[in-house]
Amino acid sequence: METMHPDVEKVLFSEEDIANMVKRLGAQISEDYKGKDLVLIAVLRGAVVFMGDLMRAIDTDLAIDFMAVSSYGNGTKSSGTVRIIKDLDIDIKDRDVLIVEDILDSGLTLKYLMANLVSRGPASLEVCTFLWKDVEGKQAAIDPKYVGTHCPDEFVVGYGLDYAEHYRNLPYVGILKPEVYA
Ligand code: XMP
Ligand code: MG
Repeated sequence: METMHPDVEKVLFSEEDIANMVKRLGAQISEDYKGKDLVLIAVLRGAVVFMGDLMRAIDTDLAIDFMAVSSYGNGTKSSGTVRIIKDLDIDIKDRDVLIVEDILDSGLTLKYLMANLVSRGPASLEVCTFLWKDVEGKQAAIDPKYVGTHCPDEFVVGYGLDYAEHYRNLPYVGILKPEVYA
């Protein structure tokens, strides 16, 4: 196993675990979108690492684009009210769109985003999320077609996910030591 960052209490998913998930998702997506007009849309900034790996695991023709959104909330909880900071550069009308997300928590951010994208008339619209957080007693507002893995209801970092913009570059996903938040 890779050397752990001193702020990380526990590694949830190793580099190898992640590589296997990406390989599996890539193979599935390649099969499902063969011959289609696939556009991957990643939500900045957390999804960039996953996007970079996932697109290279897909062996059918595709285009990529990015969106940046800001959700009005307290930083670790999403409010569902979303503002588009950076919009798409390409037209998605009649194309097969797959949103690439780092982590699905309440799903409120994605629910808003999907309603916005649907209004642009894509041929299809699905979600591929790297992590799906199991939130006790609550159901996510959306149901992703592709999921890397479920994760516990803890604040996780690494593989694109940050705490105050740190730890995005860790090649694994981990849980921070509680004292880091203090
Ligand atoms: P919702 O609740 O709208 O929120 O699905 C999804 C967004 O919230 C952020 N988020 C996290 N970021 N570690 C992070 O680094 C986490 O454990 C975490 N949980 C939620 C993330 O931006 C995601 O897109
Ligand atoms: Mg995000």
